[in-house]
Amino acid sequence: MSAVTLYAKASPDFADKLAQSEALLRRVEQDYTPLTQASSLGAEDMVITHLLHSTGVRASVFVLDTGKLHAQTVALIDRIQAHYQRQVEVYRPQAEAADAFVQHFGEQAMYESLALRKQCCGIRKMEPLARALAGHRGWLTGLRREQSNARAEVDFIEQEAERVKINPLARWTAGDVWNFIGLHGIPYNPLHDAFFPSIGCAPCTRAVTLGEDIRSGRWWWEQESAKECGLHAPGESVSLSSTIPLKEVAA
Ligand code: ADX
Ligand code: SF4
Repeated sequence: MSAVTLYAKASPDFADKLAQSEALLRRVEQDYTPLTQASSLGAEDMVITHLLHSTGVRASVFVLDTGKLHAQTVALIDRIQAHYQRQVEVYRPQAEAADAFVQHFGEQAMYESLALRKQCCGIRKMEPLARALAGHRGWLTGLRREQSNARAEVDFIEQEAERVKINPLARWTAGDVWNFIGLHGIPYNPLHDAFFPSIGCAPCTRAVTLGEDIRSGRWWWEQESAKECGLHAPGESVSLSSTIPLKEVAA
């Protein structure tokens, strides 16, 4: 069944949330250019790429292709490029490090221990992320407060050591995301239609059943508190009043 049919349900104040997200994008373009969007090619990230297009806000878009993504996920790169007539940058792990890890620990290493799983994420995501972010003052992500307890405090703008992280959909619900995708015919990963609400690498993602938590298909053998790959260590919030008039973006 289509994910739009299954999940689309706009919040009563969705028009305000959308206006806040658009205002945020325009403001961070002024304050933190050069900007880049980290796209996992999941539903939230497709919405942000669409918003960049509709607002005309200038930001590059990059994907960390870990070498372990589903074919349907990778296929979205060409779909975005055709749909929005824009370039998507692809960052891959260093082949030597990825091959050495597999040779040493095997293809199933991520299931053996948290340490090995994090090492795999380090090689396939964190090292390429550092290259993707170099030279940028701000990066856009699709984090939403509703996604997990660990993300409940996500702010619109968070100060990190070398740049700011911007989360334009922090206040959106999953229903808002899918409603917006349906309204605008935004391309999305067909795996979302097969009960994959959150999609990462193939070995570490599985379908969920109705009623299960949206991130329960990610690293499902681990405790919830461990379920981050390292891309999103908590940063400090930036005072919005210094960057965006509060009447435009009220938390
Ligand atoms: S993860 O940390 O558990 O993998 P999740 O899949 O929810 O995160 O994605 C959260 C955000 O991290 C995405 O909206 C996106 O901004 C960024 N992200 C995650 N995976 C990737 C990827 N492979 N390439 C680029 N950005 C990514
Ligand atoms: Fe490796 Fe799984 Fe992390 Fe992907 S999500 S980098 S396959 S451990």
